[in-house]
Amino acid sequence: MRASTLLAGLASAAVVLASDVVDLTKSGQAGFEDFVQDSSLALVEFYAPWCGHCKALAPHYEEAATILKKDNIPIAKIDCTEAQDVCSGQGVNGYPTLKVFRNGVAADYAGTRKTDGIVSYMKKQSLPAVSDVTAANHDEFKSADKVVLIAYVDESDSKTQEAFKTFANQHRDDYLFGLSTDAATHSAANVKPPQVVMYKSFDEGRNDLEGSISEDSLFDFAKEHSVPLLDEISPDNFATYAEAGIPLAYIFVPSNDAKRDEIVDAIKPVAREHKGKLNFVWIDSNKFADHAKSLNLQEPKWPAFAIQSIQDMTKFPLDQSKDVSHDNVAAFVKDFVAGKIKPSIKSQKAPTQDGPVFVLVADEFDQVTNGDKDILVEFYAPWCGHCKKLAPIYDTLGEEFSNVKDKLVIAKFDATENDVPSSAGFRVTGFPTLKFKAAGTDEWISYEGDRSLESLREFLETNATNDILSPDDAEAELEGETEVKSGRHDEL
Ligand SMILES: *[C@@H]1O[C@H](CO)[C@@H](O)[C@H](O)[C@H]1NC(C)=O
Repeated sequence: MRASTLLAGLASAAVVLASDVVDLTKSGQAGFEDFVQDSSLALVEFYAPWCGHCKALAPHYEEAATILKKDNIPIAKIDCTEAQDVCSGQGVNGYPTLKVFRNGVAADYAGTRKTDGIVSYMKKQSLPAVSDVTAANHDEFKSADKVVLIAYVDESDSKTQEAFKTFANQHRDDYLFGLSTDAATHSAANVKPPQVVMYKSFDEGRNDLEGSISEDSLFDFAKEHSVPLLDEISPDNFATYAEAGIPLAYIFVPSNDAKRDEIVDAIKPVAREHKGKLNFVWIDSNKFADHAKSLNLQEPKWPAFAIQSIQDMTKFPLDQSKDVSHDNVAAFVKDFVAGKIKPSIKSQKAPTQDGPVFVLVADEFDQVTNGDKDILVEFYAPWCGHCKKLAPIYDTLGEEFSNVKDKLVIAKFDATENDVPSSAGFRVTGFPTLKFKAAGTDEWISYEGDRSLESLREFLETNATNDILSPDDAEAELEGETEVKSGRHDEL
């Protein structure tokens, strides 16, 4: 018994010893402070042992720590179930939380949770925003990351140097930047200053920006060339595409499909033709079938193709009876760019209304909400617990105002089966979402009150344009005793 406990202890000690991740769990507040104060640069993970994302990160974190050790960048972790004071002091409210510390000053870590992403992010943090590039380090530097930007500028050209440095400071998390003012390097790189070259580990490998170089031209240049022509999209790189400000075209295909490369390669010429106007990606349709569904594609007809305009919240699925072939996609994208394709709006069929609450569907959204009635809409999902809890209260609310149906609509909208039309001007991101539009206005206001019958009623009575007091209420109001008579305000 003793021996085996001892062995187990030794075994786990061995595991701990083999790790290059510094474990700060037992260091206490003071030990943690010392560590971050003493590090000119360090990465700290705040985690909980039960957290799934933390477990998924662990092997990557270990590997990154080993690689970064050579650059003297310490990587640490701290178990928040044990070191609660340290974590609450750092405002940690989710796991894992990753923070970059520079001599005690924290910043959010904004890289991916994969080994190479962590390594690349921390290396960039360790460098000045712009590194000095000379003949000696030129070859090494231009392949030091996935995307490297080197400016070749004459020593005397301070204007271009300033523009490049300003841009680099703003984008130090995105790319690696180098500056060379050395004539020998210029001729070795085959450039004519001022010139900026993007060296990248994918697609054509190199892009050139010549002529006048400003922050604006650098921005456009980097945006156009830093995204691979047709990469796989996943939660790791989704933000890059979301922020690109141009529509995103997806090929949905199972990642284990034997023909995957063939299907994806066939679309590459279309992607090349529309580079800078649309981004193209492929996505694992097995893993992200829900995303396909949200673009109004149906499972399991893969491969499938759809375009999403993230800005306008609109989506354009390619008819799934068509093959995802070069010709079909090329024709579809051409029509899309020409504005000939209408966004797809998912909608249930308009039902017969026989309940206390009006069942609103996407097809009728504009017609019902643009009338001369006040309207309250609950956007819900059938699986959402808070929505289920609200349902009986909401039904009662509908019943209470059933005698003023010509003035006020109490409606519900199943947002999993219907798209909120872009004409609404808002996006529903959580359930339930309650929105109100007063008759004669164009503006939806959010209901932020508690979800009690009393608060909902009061909100409607105060904010409705129409006179929606029921005859009972009106009578009571005259007598100045609404509260007592209706017996509604029996709180506490
Ligand atoms: C009426 O609507 C506004 C939001 O526009 C809200 O702040 C206010 O609380 C509402 N009135 C009541 C009584 O809920």
